[in-house]
Amino acid sequence: MREFHFPNWVNKFTLLILIGILVGAGYLATVLYAAHLPTTVNVGHRPFQPIPYSHELHAGELKIDCRYCHNTVDTAAHAAGPRKPGNGRPDHVGQSA
Ligand code: HEC
Repeated sequence: MREFHFPNWVNKFTLLILIGILVGAGYLATVLYAAHLPTTVNVGHRPFQPIPYSHELHAGELKIDCRYCHNTVDTAAHAAGPRKPGNGRPDHVGQSA
């Protein structure tokens, strides 16, 4: 019985695996780099506010209870904010700065 030898084209696999590792590492590095960029994580996101609002005045000076405006803060997972008249959605929904 003849001894088994891998055909010559199998040698190319080593090269393919090395190229695969390099491309994969480059891809991973790019993704990880992009994942922490300020534009990706939205650093400094400031949604459009039609009315200049100050907590310092309302909650600070006037001592209005937080729950007057954020009325679901002690009953829901998310604190509601004051709604604008009209569509009833907060101003920052569906808008970018
Ligand atoms: C007079 C109404 C009013 C009162 C009282 C009030 N808030 Fe607010 N709060 C708002 C408004 C309006 C916004 C959105 C304003 C903005 O984004 O500039 C807001 C936004 C916030 C945000 C940011 C939410 C986000 O998604 O970015 C926090 C946190 C917050 N309020 C906490 C408090 C706390 C704590 C108190 C009590 C000490 C309080 N608020 C009292 C009206 C109020």
